[in-house]
Amino acid sequence: MNVPNHIAIILDGNGRWAKKRGMPRSYGHVKGCANLETICDVMKDLGVKYLTVYAFSTENWKRSKEEIDGLMKLFRNYLKKCISISDRNKMRVKIIGDITAFDKDIQDSIIKLEEHSSQYDELHFQIALNYGARDEMVRGVRRMLEDCRTGKLNPEDMDEKCFSGYLDTAGIPDPDLMIRTSGEQRLSNFLLWQLAYTEFYFTPVAWPDFDKEELIRIIEKYNERDRRYGGVKEE
Ligand code: IPE
Ligand code: IPE
Ligand code: MG
Repeated sequence: MNVPNHIAIILDGNGRWAKKRGMPRSYGHVKGCANLETICDVMKDLGVKYLTVYAFSTENWKRSKEEIDGLMKLFRNYLKKCISISDRNKMRVKIIGDITAFDKDIQDSIIKLEEHSSQYDELHFQIALNYGARDEMVRGVRRMLEDCRTGKLNPEDMDEKCFSGYLDTAGIPDPDLMIRTSGEQRLSNFLLWQLAYTEFYFTPVAWPDFDKEELIRIIEKYNERDRRYGGVKEE
């Protein structure tokens, strides 16, 4: 089995999963968070080099205070626990998104986790938190304009590679496979630039139920695909 170098996942369906069981949405997030830990181990075992997950969008602040509070509590615990997960999997963790919106202690945990795990390179794990692709591009363009103003960047030197370097994902190769769980077939503002030639797979399985078997099924389907980049394949 040819394992994709970079897999991106939109972790969706926690709320519906919980509701179906007569439980509050927050319970679905707890289960989803536990599953993220399991799937990280699975990715490492399969030899995936890059994993990027969408955990909280710039639009998700529209949810109820109760749900947001539950999510922040979960992030607080998870970011601390992630130190030992990074040791276990020799995994480098990077948060993409605008973290300045989070409470100071959460920002501190993020910096600590990124610094601690920067010694590893077996699995590169990106977590998108307060991430929106449009926001990422606007923030990047703002920094780019500032570099032009101060003379650090010549507008003539701007090309696709240079633009990519201003995104939160600078230095990370584009995803080969993007999976969205729980049936919705949209991007919801995820990696709009980086997914230009990525293969998409939408599974009806809700995130808390997503397991190794489903992941392998999807990778096998991915292997059957005829990947192209605008050209024609030689026979
Ligand atoms: C994904 O699950 C997790 C987050 C967006 C934080 P949802 O919370 O979107 O669950 P559904 O889609 O409502 O079932
Ligand atoms: C996308 O899921 C964001 C995350 C999974 C973090 P949503 O559940 O928020 O997206 P929509 O609202 O269904 O598009
Ligand atoms: Mg959802």
